[in-house]
Amino acid sequence: MPMTIRPINKEDIKDIFKINNSVQGNPWTRNAIQAEIENPLSLGWVSLDKVVITGYIFIRKNGSESEIMTVGVSPENQRKGIGEKLISHALAQLPQGSTVNLEVSHLNEGALTLYKKIGFIVTATRKSYYPDGSDGLCMQLNT
Ligand SMILES: CC(C)(COP(=O)(O)OP(=O)(O)OC[C@H]1O[C@@H](n2cnc3c(N)ncnc32)[C@H](O)[C@@H]1OP(=O)(O)O)[C@@H](O)C(=O)NCCC(=O)NCCS
Repeated sequence: MPMTIRPINKEDIKDIFKINNSVQGNPWTRNAIQAEIENPLSLGWVSLDKVVITGYIFIRKNGSESEIMTVGVSPENQRKGIGEKLISHALAQLPQGSTVNLEVSHLNEGALTLYKKIGFIVTATRKSYYPDGSDGLCMQLNT
C-alpha cells in the first residue's frame, strides 16, 4: 500500500508526540500538540504507511500568510521522500499567491536542504535564536 496523507485528528496526539519527541531538539508537549490541533488557524496532516503514522506537519494559515509550525518524520522513515510529500501536500492546500514563512536552525542541514529544494529562500537571520545558541533562519516561499 502506498504512503497516504490525511488530516490530523485528536487520536493522533500520542503518535505525533512520540515522533516529535524523537526528532526535535525542542519537542512540543502533548498539550501543545493538542492546542495546535484545536487552534482554528491551524491545519495539520499526518503521513501513513498502512495504519502507522510516519510523519506530521502543522501549518498556521492567516489569510494569504501562512507559517509552517513544525514538520517531522520518524527516524526509521526519513530519507524516503515523506517530508517533501508532506510539505508539498500542505502547500497545495493553500490559496494560490500565499506567502509561506518558517524558521529553522542554521545547524539543521537536512531541513534546510529540503526547504531550499522546495523553493524556500532565506530572508533574515535571528542570531542565537534557539536555546542551543544556533541562529534562526527565516525562510519564505510564495506559492
Ligand atoms: C527534515 C525532515 C522533516 C525531512 O524529512 P524526510 O522525509 O527525511 O525528507 P525527504 O526524504 O522528503 O527528503 C527530501 C530531500 O530533502 C533533502 N534532505 C532531507 N533530509 C536530508 C538530510 N538529512 N541531509 C541532507 N539532505 C536532506 C534531500 O535533498 C532529500 O532528497 P534526496 O533524499 O533525494 O537526497 C526530517 O529529517 C525530520 O523529521 N527532521 C527532524 C525534525 C526537523 O528538523 N524538522 C524541521 C524543522 S521543524
